[in-house]
Amino acid sequence: MLFDIFTTPRIRFGPGSTYQLGEEVAALGQKVLLVTGRQSLKQSGQMDRITQPLAISGLETVWFEEVTPEPDTATVDAVRQLARDEGCTVVVGVGGGSVLDVAKAAAGLAHAEGETREYLNGRELTTGGLPFVAVPTTAGSGSEVTQNVVLVDPVTGKKTSLRHDRWLPRVAVVDPIMTMSMPRALTAQTGMDALTHAVEAYTSRWANAYTRSLAREAVRLIIQNIYTAYTVPGRREARENMLLASMLAGMALNVARTGAVHALAHPIGTRYRLGHGLVCGILLPYVAEFNQGVAAGAYAELARHAGLVAAGTPDEEAAGRFVHYLGRLAARLELPTKLGPCGMNAQDIPELVEAAMGSSSLAANARRATRQDLAALLERTL
Ligand SMILES: [Fe+2]
Repeated sequence: MLFDIFTTPRIRFGPGSTYQLGEEVAALGQKVLLVTGRQSLKQSGQMDRITQPLAISGLETVWFEEVTPEPDTATVDAVRQLARDEGCTVVVGVGGGSVLDVAKAAAGLAHAEGETREYLNGRELTTGGLPFVAVPTTAGSGSEVTQNVVLVDPVTGKKTSLRHDRWLPRVAVVDPIMTMSMPRALTAQTGMDALTHAVEAYTSRWANAYTRSLAREAVRLIIQNIYTAYTVPGRREARENMLLASMLAGMALNVARTGAVHALAHPIGTRYRLGHGLVCGILLPYVAEFNQGVAAGAYAELARHAGLVAAGTPDEEAAGRFVHYLGRLAARLELPTKLGPCGMNAQDIPELVEAAMGSSSLAANARRATRQDLAALLERTL
């Protein structure tokens, strides 16, 4: 058995943990570049939970608040330039996956010569960056515990994942209160992303004992809490369990990677401008069905651990129930269940399949998938 485990070295988890943000950041630098989205944090009324601890610790803060969903490399370049112009010594990202990814890449590339898109397209990174602190406000991406970012190249329009050993956040401050004001649709979509991370990491070709234990528990927490978080947004326990689950799933995927859902979700999301979690939620049951022949034992373990079936249920039956559950979940969360009504048509399928074929996520998928397999899978989602 061989392990190579990377994870965020310090994780401060729990309601009110943002009160410790100031002391954590002050230990890393004195001039802070704070990266957030345009509106959501201010509208949520949670801004004080970030700015007050930073001010109390005597930190000078420069603000970049222009990150939009599905961000591109030009945004990272702009953040990086601001950090250089202002002489910032530490980067803090507060937001969902898009914000955390932009902040992480800007910190990681702070001293790099080339433009961000050069590194996205394979240029080797030889310089270190600035320390990065992540504060998630959604329970989905797990970016607070991963070393990768997903960015769009504005020249090619292609969405690609970029990862680096040195890019793990130095500290993750993971406070469920920051997720309490997430709108219902965002709760559903980000929750489906986290569930996809957990299921794909659990069945990945690169899974090991460490990643499986994290992913299995993440699946249980999501299955037992996602519907409550969606229907009763103010239920703190459900929010806390969802945030814990997305973090555990992130820790698992950082080592085990994901699978065919993620390989397909990137080109589809970019092409039709659909949210990442929404696309994952649609594809997950189809990919699970495709994998079922080789992953029945794993799906059965997940079904038993999550309490979907009784302990003694045979593998075949338990795996079937698990895949069936995944198929019904998107509809229960009032999300679309097909890609056709979201804009995908049959003529686009070969191009989408081609874009997915080179993905490292596809290489990690439980069952090897050919072009024909992926095309047939997408046709079923029309
Ligand atoms: Fe994802």
